[in-house]
Amino acid sequence: MLIKNIKTLVGVDEDFCKIKKGAAMKILPTIENAWLLLEKDKIADFGKMETCPDRDDEIIDATGKMVFPSWCDSHTHLVFAGSREGEFRDRIEGLSYQEIAQRGGGILNSAKKLRNTPEEVLLENAFQRLEEVKNFGTGVIEIKSGYGLSVESELKILRVIQKLKAISSLKIKATFLGAHAVPMEFKENREGYIQLIIKDLLPQVADEGLADYIDVFCEKVAFSPAETERIMEAGWKYGLKPKIHTNQFNCMGGIEASVKHNAISVDHLEVVNDAEIECLKNSNTIPTLLPSAPFFINDHFPPARKIIDAGLPVALATDFNPGTTPSGRMSFVISLACIKMKMLPEEAINAATINGAYALELQKDYGSIAKGKVANVFITKPIPSIAFLPYAFGSNLVETVILNGKVE
Ligand code: NIG
Ligand code: FE
Repeated sequence: MLIKNIKTLVGVDEDFCKIKKGAAMKILPTIENAWLLLEKDKIADFGKMETCPDRDDEIIDATGKMVFPSWCDSHTHLVFAGSREGEFRDRIEGLSYQEIAQRGGGILNSAKKLRNTPEEVLLENAFQRLEEVKNFGTGVIEIKSGYGLSVESELKILRVIQKLKAISSLKIKATFLGAHAVPMEFKENREGYIQLIIKDLLPQVADEGLADYIDVFCEKVAFSPAETERIMEAGWKYGLKPKIHTNQFNCMGGIEASVKHNAISVDHLEVVNDAEIECLKNSNTIPTLLPSAPFFINDHFPPARKIIDAGLPVALATDFNPGTTPSGRMSFVISLACIKMKMLPEEAINAATINGAYALELQKDYGSIAKGKVANVFITKPIPSIAFLPYAFGSNLVETVILNGKVE
């Protein structure tokens, strides 16, 4: 397939899949008036129209349109049952997210719903959500468990994710988040639940190859840094690298603990102090920001500028989940990053593509336009400039989705 007359080919990767950090986050290489050749499921070649090959391939004329690498959404909880607009109302009337969680709402509310939902229904609903985000331009996605909170139900979610990997054209990675909350039945025995995660669940998850990563919600309403460390250590024993929810509401040592255990990423970071930024500077752990979550629960946004200006990379993801982000729309995340966190459009696009791929260890195959990478791209509607994408925050500007070299 040959895409011709591309107004701007965005995210061209000349130094092949380097993570973008600090000042380099602003650099988003492009080619004006370009062509892009896809062969089978890979990117074969690209260049300026003057050098366009003369071929009989399937040709798409992209006059006035731009081509982007597909979004890499490195943090979602896309397998869930039901919705939580009752809590949405409660927040409008003055309750906070943490107060709702303490009353047995929040994650426990979703766990109750999920336990009563058959696997086929979860699969069908999650597949529909994947189709929706595919049309918004996402080509790579991470999906967590964490609404089961029992052996049976955590495995049920992870098996749904495994089936999604087989039937979806998106590239999917699975994360085991048994430590999302302490379930009701272990309210007086949190140690019992940690033991269940480490001794019962983890061996089965690893045995069936159901997860690529392990996650813990390190927060006052969930698990302490010391508990998080124990679960990360147990995960490593089974080859599951950590990607950790931390610093959503409190600075309590989650970043330090995650860096100590070589976490791939630390996610949320609505609150982060100077010592934690220093700690991240001496690590390969990727700060992953999820601005639609504080947008939706009306909390403050992560200090992206401070993080980038300290020379660090940032990845952006949706956090698609029924409690804090009932949306999997990456273009809205990019708009929020620009408007609320003062990231430049180029920085936000790098954070949503190549750096997102890094946060899933998929940078060799996804996240930019480079020869030999998987042909996951989207063609926009006619747009005047790159900045128009975050600027026109309410429009879906994705016109054609191509995954694995095929038009979807
Ligand atoms: O990333 N913070 C923890 N987990 C999710 C929300 C979970 C929920 O409220 O259902 C998040 O925001
Ligand atoms: Fe999350």
